[in-house]
Amino acid sequence: MTTCEYRPGLEGIPVTQSSISYVDGHTGVLEYRGIRIEEIAQNSSFLETAYLLIWGGLPNQQQLQEFEHEVQYHRRLKYRIRDMMKCFPESGHPMDALQACAAALGLFHSRRELEDPAYVQNAVVRLLAKIPTMVAAFKMMRKGNDPVQPRDDLGYAANFLYMLNEREPDPLAARIFDICLILHAEHTINASTFSAMVTASTLTDPYAVIASAVGTLAGPLHGGANEEVITMLRNIGSIENVRPYVEKCIANRERIMGFGHRVYKVKDPRAAILQGLVEQLFDKVGHDASYDIALELELVVEEKLGHKGIYPNVDFYSGLVYRKLGIPTDLFTPIFAIARVAGWLAHWKEQIGKNRIFRPTQIYEGPHTQQYIPLEKRLQMWEK
Ligand code: ACO
Repeated sequence: MTTCEYRPGLEGIPVTQSSISYVDGHTGVLEYRGIRIEEIAQNSSFLETAYLLIWGGLPNQQQLQEFEHEVQYHRRLKYRIRDMMKCFPESGHPMDALQACAAALGLFHSRRELEDPAYVQNAVVRLLAKIPTMVAAFKMMRKGNDPVQPRDDLGYAANFLYMLNEREPDPLAARIFDICLILHAEHTINASTFSAMVTASTLTDPYAVIASAVGTLAGPLHGGANEEVITMLRNIGSIENVRPYVEKCIANRERIMGFGHRVYKVKDPRAAILQGLVEQLFDKVGHDASYDIALELELVVEEKLGHKGIYPNVDFYSGLVYRKLGIPTDLFTPIFAIARVAGWLAHWKEQIGKNRIFRPTQIYEGPHTQQYIPLEKRLQMWEK
């Protein structure tokens, strides 16, 4: 075997061959199964997109109806999971609650019959169905309220928004939220997807796969930037403060949240779609002054940092949409997880279809031929 150069963070190292999604960061192209994200966002629904990603092609009408029906049928949580959630501390982060719940779901279905298509189908349906219910239930239960039961007459996105506060959402709000889920459903190999693939490669159950991916997404370097965008816009406070803020960040070599991407060197195509959604939502339910600050920020950052390929990423506008929908900021990353379950499951299925366990190597930098020092002599050694 040839040894190759060590690249921190595996930057640029292919870890799989995949046909799930494609990104061209120089022209701003994102495709799911070969279809442009703009086309999917305009015409599809989140569940149809999940089907496309996981099963590899668009469903026909009957397949879609059956899939939607199955997901809707499995939305409820077992009372034992709800009882477990009652014991979670109310100050706990919703991502930690979600990781625990996803893993706990595996206790009920952990047969690991990965070669059985019915087991795979059931796991896909249960995870897509129950993850949103878990997020909404924790939101209610941490305040001492009962979780809101899912409503069978509402679609996937509308039902999630309904479960957050027991109010049926405006149809435009539900459609916009559904598109947000589509935009976050998949994005080639990133930290949480790689985590899902590594876990999948051990042939453990899919609930453990999703739990490990949720744990990885929870880190601030991955899932949390849209929360920070909201804080940043609040701190900037007014359009006049934008230019001095950007200049200060550049002088101090500080990151401007919601800008820059390892892959995209132009505006993230998802940010462009989200910007249109923000405008539609504000037209309907009222303007938000933070959006004017955001627009000015985009202009000034492009002027100052565009030459480095620093443009808005997906997180820049998504927080503004979620805030306008009345969603608490600490649910932004769990919402990312609800959507990304589709991508994680697609990669899980692809991985087990051609599996080889991940077992990378390392470059050892420690000593050799060291002696074992008896305990009683070690103290003297440290005192020296
Ligand atoms: N603000 C200001 N300057 C930036 C930013 C930013 N947001 N991002 C990158 N740069 C600058 C760097 O300072 C660096 O400049 P230099 O060459 O003069 O040193 C140059 O651009 C390249 O930066 P890298 O660190 O090499 O970029 P990398 O690809 O490693 O980082 C990342 C990508 C982590 C997304 C980065 O752009 C960042 O921290 N952005 C802010 C946080 C954020 O929005 N994260 C969400 C990403 S999208 C997602 O995860 C869903």
